[in-house]
Amino acid sequence: MKKLFVLPLLLCFTLKAAARQEAPVNPALIPVPVKAIYGQGSVYISNQTPVTAAAELKYESALLKAFIQQQSGTDAPGSDIKGKHIRLLTDTLLVKHSEEYLLHSTPQGITITGHDGAGILHGIQTLRQIWIKEGGKLKVPLAEIHDHPRFGYRGMHLDVSRHFFNVSFIKKFIDLLSMYKYNTFHWHLTDDQGWRIEIKKYPKLQSVAAWRDETMIGHKRELPHRFDGKKYGGYYTQEQVKEVVKYATERHITVIPEIEMPGHAQAALAAYPNLGCTGGPYKTATFGGVFDDVFCAGKDSTFTFLQDVLDEVIPLFPSPYIHIGGDECPKVKWKACPNCQRRIKEEKLADEHELQSYFIKRAARYLQGKGKKVMGWDEILEGGLAKDVTVMSWRSTAGAVEAARLGSDAIMTSEDEYYFDHYQSLYPSEPVAAGGYTPLKEVYTYQPLPDSIDASLLPKIKGIQGQLWSEYLYTEKQAAYMLLPRAIALAEVAWSPAGNLQYDQFLTRLRKHPSQLKRIGWEMTNNFDELTYSIHELQRGSLSFHLHSSIREADIRYTSDGSLPARSSRAYRGQAIAGGKFGVVKARLFRNGMVFGRTLEIPFHIHKATGADITVTNLPSGKYGGPATKLVNSIYGVNRYNDNQWIGFTKDFEAVIDLGSVMEIKKVGANVLNYTWQRMRPPVTLDYYVSDNGQEYTKITSLTEFPVNGINQARATVNVTARYIKVKGQHPGIVPKGGYGEGSTAVMMIDELIVE
Ligand code: ACM
Ligand code: ZN
Repeated sequence: MKKLFVLPLLLCFTLKAAARQEAPVNPALIPVPVKAIYGQGSVYISNQTPVTAAAELKYESALLKAFIQQQSGTDAPGSDIKGKHIRLLTDTLLVKHSEEYLLHSTPQGITITGHDGAGILHGIQTLRQIWIKEGGKLKVPLAEIHDHPRFGYRGMHLDVSRHFFNVSFIKKFIDLLSMYKYNTFHWHLTDDQGWRIEIKKYPKLQSVAAWRDETMIGHKRELPHRFDGKKYGGYYTQEQVKEVVKYATERHITVIPEIEMPGHAQAALAAYPNLGCTGGPYKTATFGGVFDDVFCAGKDSTFTFLQDVLDEVIPLFPSPYIHIGGDECPKVKWKACPNCQRRIKEEKLADEHELQSYFIKRAARYLQGKGKKVMGWDEILEGGLAKDVTVMSWRSTAGAVEAARLGSDAIMTSEDEYYFDHYQSLYPSEPVAAGGYTPLKEVYTYQPLPDSIDASLLPKIKGIQGQLWSEYLYTEKQAAYMLLPRAIALAEVAWSPAGNLQYDQFLTRLRKHPSQLKRIGWEMTNNFDELTYSIHELQRGSLSFHLHSSIREADIRYTSDGSLPARSSRAYRGQAIAGGKFGVVKARLFRNGMVFGRTLEIPFHIHKATGADITVTNLPSGKYGGPATKLVNSIYGVNRYNDNQWIGFTKDFEAVIDLGSVMEIKKVGANVLNYTWQRMRPPVTLDYYVSDNGQEYTKITSLTEFPVNGINQARATVNVTARYIKVKGQHPGIVPKGGYGEGSTAVMMIDELIVE
């Protein structure tokens, strides 16, 4: 937080000098403001303090009064509130940016000057974060705060299809967004697992599409699939939608509805099967995924239906934008559909990708004709982007760059960093989640505008957004667990100048937020301060770890004999050594003499290839990429495959391990993932060869059986001496017909290559 800056003369006052000389207060304000000076004194306000505001600020003024009332309580305020005032005013000359505000608290009272109503509200939210309750009054530090957002678009998405959240939760969600200065709520209202918005012209959307027969229990990758047998569903009536939109609008939050097309349409098809290519029957999906049954692009009745739907959606949402999805639309049904093929021919389209583009362009034109702007996920670039459509770039930043290059706007919604259905911690006791690993630090430190983007395109990148998909959010509590604190980190990235972002400082402020969150009905779990590890040193036959904590005064103790670390256990002083061959390093963090968080466990298996030189061909990059040393680092990848241990080959590979000298080998093997429901398929064969000189190799064994759904610890007993081991992995090719992800390239997931 910058403490010293030059303010317009009009606002300069004596606390500047005080701020320099005396210990300043340091409120735990999130997002951190552009500029702030805090003075030594304070001013008291209460629910008796008059609030003056122009008539057009009546909602902001009412909200401020309600916040004061809620927090100051009913105790008598005392005499030191006398003569104080609160003023809300807009001034577009003094306060130039959209949503900007100046907050000025002096011994006489508080003035919030906003560029607009949104700026006033942001100033109110700041005030609410910096005041402290004292009896029946609120103590506000003397301050000059000058603040405006980095990005004009600051969004948070919520999927209400996979799990439905009622109106009171949605309002609570909006309260949270408002507190942290978001300005957009992306409401994902339709998907395969349920249609959640009332459309009066199509009553079966309410009676059929809003419901599913049951819901999968556990993760989709687990077999056999299990279901709860309970009918599940719900939808928002148009009156409820209006209520939510009004609530959001009063808080300067734009609600963007998403009506998915042409994919993720199975619930709509269940209600109106003629909208699909085959005519059905279809069922509302009972688990998450990408399904082949999508809206038929060949039938005009599909477009009539969607236009009718949009005709009812448009008047409910003052938002300039309507989101039409466009993501993850398989083309298999279109390929076999005479109507879709006729459309391709008649419209002179090259293929089904251009048919998707035709679909999106037609819907976009319709909406644009009604005065709306259109948004879609980055797949809408495929086959040609419709004019003036904003792209949400989720699969990488490439979509945003491409959109900007084509003259369109883009929002950064990167899956790896901004999807909050990902695991935020690698502890095995984390509740089931979609997958991935997106810890708080990654959300905070990720640069949404990479240096590689041509500066001339940057004005087209309008902002950033977090996504909360709800396949595994069975309860509101779980939704809160996944959302917080990551959505708070994202809020700061979206609002605060990049130069003001410091993770350690952010954590110091964040740790003070649970009580204010609690006041608006949210619970934040602290797992961001828990221990994590990385490899300190990997050498032939030995391994040691770094143990990390974001708590500065942490006392970390560890063991490697399986016992639970106590305060008397070995103190961590920069490296924790994996002792023994097969074992587990356990570590605990003590803070003020008390255990903080869960026990970190790092299982390891030191074998003859541990730390050996290794070369690997066709080594992938990215999420399941190298380095090759991961294959011989003694750490087995876990069955959530989010621990950066697995290598996901998409071709055959050849690994050569140099043990350094000729030695006896009794056993070779590999850990292999077999999760057909994640398109992770085992090798056709893993062939092992040995050599003394690295030139002539002799085949010693093949591993071909990987029957377990999950981790296969495939091993073969051999009896040879050798220095070099070559492992050839034969890739399984494309997912066969009938398999999940049919026709796409399977991923061959290999972790440790073991030599004993
Ligand atoms: C998406 O995650 N399918 C946008
Ligand atoms: Zn069709």
